[in-house]
Amino acid sequence: MTIRVAVLGMGSVGKGVLEMISRKDLGIIVTGVADSKSGLIDPKGLDIGAVLSSKKTGACGNPSITAKDVVACADYDILVEVTPTNAGNGEPALSYMKMAIERGSHIVTSNKGPISLYLKELNRLAGEKGVLVRYEATVGGAIPIMHTLGNGLAGNEFQALYGVLNGTCNYILTRMAAEGLTYDQALAEARELGYAEADPTYDVKGIDAAIKLVILANTIWDNGASLDRVDITGIDLLTTDALRLAEEKDCTIRLIAEAFPERGVLRVSPRIIRKDHPLVFEGTLNAITLETDMAGEITLIGKGAGSVETASAIIGDILFISSHVRSN
Ligand code: HSE
Repeated sequence: MTIRVAVLGMGSVGKGVLEMISRKDLGIIVTGVADSKSGLIDPKGLDIGAVLSSKKTGACGNPSITAKDVVACADYDILVEVTPTNAGNGEPALSYMKMAIERGSHIVTSNKGPISLYLKELNRLAGEKGVLVRYEATVGGAIPIMHTLGNGLAGNEFQALYGVLNGTCNYILTRMAAEGLTYDQALAEARELGYAEADPTYDVKGIDAAIKLVILANTIWDNGASLDRVDITGIDLLTTDALRLAEEKDCTIRLIAEAFPERGVLRVSPRIIRKDHPLVFEGTLNAITLETDMAGEITLIGKGAGSVETASAIIGDILFISSHVRSN
């Protein structure tokens, strides 16, 4: 069975998804794409190589076709929504997702805005239409945290979660400590490598990690967590000197996100931690530790940002839906 997808967004994640779909023989065809300026629709499947080449020189397609046209008119089983995050109201991604659900399509997204704000509503709408909303790529990049929560750890009770949820900050802190780069130099590198958000203040002010914490909390505890209830401190004011002082004590600094629901704790903040602590690792790695009743303590670790790494999560969700549809 061939699964048909429409892809909205051609930033680092969208391009990674298209490249992996074209490179691997996964039974996925792309019948629509859109970036912020243009779109393309072909019910037989687009030539992904041609789309990626025209994106290199500007818009991906026809300027008279919008993302909304693709959502409304393309033939697809799954809408892959990978446009930039808007943490304020989740738009325009939220409206695209609702339109696609209304048409009876499944959703796969990396978009943290609508999922942190409207997960419950999207799941309700999807349930009414008998479709799925999958959002593995919103948290932890390539780490299969949502599959783990929904499948491997099903039936467990969760007491707490904590970890490193932003690859850009971890990369910046690593580069500042290892190479003595300034914060601005390290951030410029992270942007160049496609790790940072379209608006990198989301990363460095701790907002991106806080949004991911909200998504995890709502997925695990369904406790109405929201961004305004997270106590957030970013790394944007950290100096190379602060890192050097930590190094002198055999410690380093990491941006840690944590949720202890029984104590009402939802927090993101830079912490001085010993270098031999399990949450100290380099580059864009993320880690999520879960405290559970049956499985005990479980830590998942992996690449938390990057084009192909995030595509791994998106493609895992597409194929999950494909097998779900086949077995129903
Ligand atoms: N900007 C994000 C990060 C991308 O650095 O973690 C993955 O969500």
